[in-house]
Amino acid sequence: MADTLTITDNRTGKQYEIPVEQGAIRAMDLRQIRTSPDDFGLMTYDPAFQNTASCRSRITFIDGDKGVLLYRGYPIEQLAEASTYLETAYLILFGELPTSAQLDRWTREITLHTMLHENIKKFMEGFQYDAHPMGIFLSTVGALSTIYPDAKRIQDEETRRLQILRLIAKVPSIAAYAYRHSIGRPYIYPDNDLSFTGNFLNMLFKMTELKYRPHPVLERALDVLFILHADHEQNCSTSAMRGIGSSQADPYSSLAGAAAALYGPLHGGANEAVLRMLREIGTIKKVPDFITRVKRGEGRLMGFGHRVYKSYDPRARIIKQTADLVFEVTGRNPLLDIALELERIALEDDYFVSRKLYPNVDFYSGLIYQAMGFPEDMFPVLFAIPRTAGWLAQWDEMLRDTDQKIARPRQIYTGAALRDYVARDERK
Ligand code: ACO
Repeated sequence: MADTLTITDNRTGKQYEIPVEQGAIRAMDLRQIRTSPDDFGLMTYDPAFQNTASCRSRITFIDGDKGVLLYRGYPIEQLAEASTYLETAYLILFGELPTSAQLDRWTREITLHTMLHENIKKFMEGFQYDAHPMGIFLSTVGALSTIYPDAKRIQDEETRRLQILRLIAKVPSIAAYAYRHSIGRPYIYPDNDLSFTGNFLNMLFKMTELKYRPHPVLERALDVLFILHADHEQNCSTSAMRGIGSSQADPYSSLAGAAAALYGPLHGGANEAVLRMLREIGTIKKVPDFITRVKRGEGRLMGFGHRVYKSYDPRARIIKQTADLVFEVTGRNPLLDIALELERIALEDDYFVSRKLYPNVDFYSGLIYQAMGFPEDMFPVLFAIPRTAGWLAQWDEMLRDTDQKIARPRQIYTGAALRDYVARDERK
């Protein structure tokens, strides 16, 4: 027997058989349920899309109850242990781990696209000296569409591949320039002898030395953090990428929109907010007081809670291990003790336990970034660099999906009924 859901409309007595496929019904199948001939048809009301699948995807799988995260079927723990960011980006984008030859070609191609057009440098110089690097980042990514008008040919597979290479290669350069700009240092050109993350550290931190040599532990730690942030299925910024891309906008404009969504403190801006929170708490003694205030509804415990994970975020677990390695090199971040105490108390407290609030990816990442010398306002940018791979993979998948059209949700209108315009001098 076919998998169906029977709906009885008590108003009319009519019954409807709605097919159930892969644990979902199609919202459009509800349209046939009408109470009168001029009735538009039944809709679902789902603010914030808490229970609506907007696509079928083969990229990332999350089991929020068990704390499982897979990219193309591979567990995040194994990728963090054995892969590199560029290899993981390839996997996310093209569906399989690359052979050695494919990885060499991919790495070479990315390396060829790391330079920014000189006009982009000039454009970035126009930002206010204290501009937030994420603001610089997202507007510069958007501006790339003016340099690459060919990117508008989004239906052409080869053109899409070229923009993917450009974007993955150029986002670290834009991010590094945004950082150098905010501290008034000259921009550093990419060094293509270095790894993806090694070169990024070079563009950020090189001073007068002839050749910048990244610390191997920090270089690897950043690569692991990039692997962990590369994709996370249909989150706020990815939905923005798909939503904007569904209008057939070019990928630079779509990615600028996705980065804007990531900027918010409830999403990629949370790691910045965590550090601010830890500094405000200041000492371990004040942790219980802070928890009490959160429970009273006076603010949130930033870096805790997730729409999908209702157990420990597997990325947070890996980040905690990475933090130990980084602190051996940089010295221990004194805010770590406050974070550990917050976690200890929160994981025992019924408020957090009953709501299934656990540390998410942002709870510890900021501590590592800070120890590595990044200022707080760079944290969301550090998230955007690796997430670029995920955004692009999701965008490409959306364009290939024959089920997709321009994204256009419906609404339930609750405003005024039809009424006549009132002349200005007759208004009360
Ligand atoms: N601190 C205190 N209480 C919280 C927190 C938190 N961090 N998160 C959720 N809650 C409470 C809510 O007040 C609510 O309680 P109530 O039922 O008594 O009203 C309940 O838990 C459910 O919260 P919602 O806001 O409905 O959960 P939602 O799924 O909409 O939000 C979110 C998820 C935005 C991540 C939320 O947990 C949050 O604001 N966390 C802090 C910000 C953060 O760390 N964001 C990063 C997310 S990961 C990422 O984007 C990479």
